[in-house]
Amino acid sequence: MCGIVGYIGSREVSSVLVDGLKRLEYRGYDSCGVAIIDEEAPTIVRSVGRIGGLEEKIKETNPTNGSVKCGIGHTRWATHGRPSEGNSHPHRDCTGRFFVAHNGIIENYLQLKRRLIADGHKFASATDTEVLPHLIESYYDGDLQAAVRQALRDVEGVYGIVVVSSEDGGRKIVAARNGPPLVVGIGSGENFIASDVPALLPYTRDMVFLKDGELAVVGSDSVQFTDFDGRCTCRPPETITWTAEMAEKEGYAYFMQKEIYEQPRAIRDTLIGRLGANNTITLDADLGDMEALSSVDRLHIVAMGTSLHAGLVGKFLIESLARIPVDVDNASEFRYRDPIIGPNDLVVGISQSGETADTLAAMKEAREKGARLLSICNVVGSQAARQSDAVLYTHAGPEIGVASTKAFTTQLIALYLLALQLAQSRGSLPADEIARHVRQLREIPDQINTILEQGNDMAVLAERFRNSKNFLYLGRGVNYPIAMEGALKLKEISYIHAEGYTAGEMKHGPIALIDAEMPVVVLVPQDTVYRKTMGNIEEVKVRDGIVIAVATVGDKEVSEKADHTIYIPCADPLVNPILATIPLQLFAYHVALLRGCDVDKPRNLAKSVTVE
Ligand code: AGP
Repeated sequence: MCGIVGYIGSREVSSVLVDGLKRLEYRGYDSCGVAIIDEEAPTIVRSVGRIGGLEEKIKETNPTNGSVKCGIGHTRWATHGRPSEGNSHPHRDCTGRFFVAHNGIIENYLQLKRRLIADGHKFASATDTEVLPHLIESYYDGDLQAAVRQALRDVEGVYGIVVVSSEDGGRKIVAARNGPPLVVGIGSGENFIASDVPALLPYTRDMVFLKDGELAVVGSDSVQFTDFDGRCTCRPPETITWTAEMAEKEGYAYFMQKEIYEQPRAIRDTLIGRLGANNTITLDADLGDMEALSSVDRLHIVAMGTSLHAGLVGKFLIESLARIPVDVDNASEFRYRDPIIGPNDLVVGISQSGETADTLAAMKEAREKGARLLSICNVVGSQAARQSDAVLYTHAGPEIGVASTKAFTTQLIALYLLALQLAQSRGSLPADEIARHVRQLREIPDQINTILEQGNDMAVLAERFRNSKNFLYLGRGVNYPIAMEGALKLKEISYIHAEGYTAGEMKHGPIALIDAEMPVVVLVPQDTVYRKTMGNIEEVKVRDGIVIAVATVGDKEVSEKADHTIYIPCADPLVNPILATIPLQLFAYHVALLRGCDVDKPRNLAKSVTVE
């Protein structure tokens, strides 16, 4: 997620902006910039890489701080357009009078850009954001906030923006929110704006959190709050008692906990711009040549760890919906196996970081054998993205916790979208079936919210099993990879040994492990293999095993057999894996917490394994 700061007052503006951006670094970024308005010419300074580089460039330009009144700053987490100085914010219009920093995604930016170019506007970047200063300039007739309101009426998508203009001689900053947060810090003879509380704490604790559909006109001595129609929404500030560290985690105890609870938003952002109005799939902006997709004979998915588990779910999704054969390989195995790649094969590299050495090497091996490459990645401009023919980005935002959570569920969403796009391009599913799946996709964020409300139940369950020495996780079919993912979550942050197995394997070995000391998590949602999995629960129970079942809400039969039952909403079998993951993440988190483990930085692990 990008970081935004704004300041208006008598301090040295560039220092306040740089300090604020540094306090937002935890949000992750690949470039940064400031726009500073003084009575002479406005100054814009942008830089790829760390804020230190920006600081040096600001010193070189030495903006006249004496008379400077206001400025805005931005750290960019790229979503559209690679990390580069030209793509970094703030962006300006072609007259150089309007400057905008933006956090979010503008869904209809291509249509707006085409309209503005036809009207004579010249664009300098590949970003969605750049349409904003041009739109504002096209509506400006002396009233900045009116021009911003008018411009936002044309925009579809989610945004938190700050706008300054040389037309105002640095007398005001206009901010507007529809999605990504913005908070106004109230000072004395000065005022502040930021994406997040940590940037403001050194200056003020009196804050007003902008609501969706709200606009703020921030002067040095006054702030006006209105809705997008200009109706006053003024209210007194809140006094924030958080420490800076608490604020970075937005009050959560760990980044992992925050990222578990961010999943509804992350999934909504990953769906933005990819679902057509009539419930079709629209990945052409991501994947380019749809024709090429319709000629794919086989897919090979390569990944490691949690991303590999996503790939295993992807196999079920793609084979079920698009009827194309899919091989899934541990990338470290694929790269040394001299794999057989056909001329019409597509290799899909799945990687949150886009920097995993084994996955990159597997993709390189595939390329050398003539395959087309698609990556599913969370970091724009990462190596995996750069070496692919096309990228289907997850828009999960930076994932700080080593244990992958929101990246995983957004990978599943991306694979679901890919499977439907392949089905749509090849005609392997009728349009009404595709529409049904699209409607299901739209429901997932709310279904996950329902599960997250059970968070405390998982804490209670974790208390019961905090001292267990071993765990078994069982699942069948599309839920088998979730059994593996649940086991990985538990082992990597609580250090309890846990294994994920396909339930059908029980009689071939694992059943020897069952006794009163062996908790067994069983994924048993109502689907085509429900009866078979219920048989596995019987097997465990008759050997005094302990069963924790993840079942479909309302299923009484399971709760009569299992020792503990966790319910997920009733959903399509292909949606169940996404929903069933959530309680397993929460369970692992709470067990690790109770065991005093460092949830965000578990021992021996790195967030990105950039070496073999
Ligand atoms: C999962 O919780 C781990 N952090 C790890 O297995 C991770 O998924 C794996 O290292 C792959 O990372 P990537 O998605 O960045 O390629």
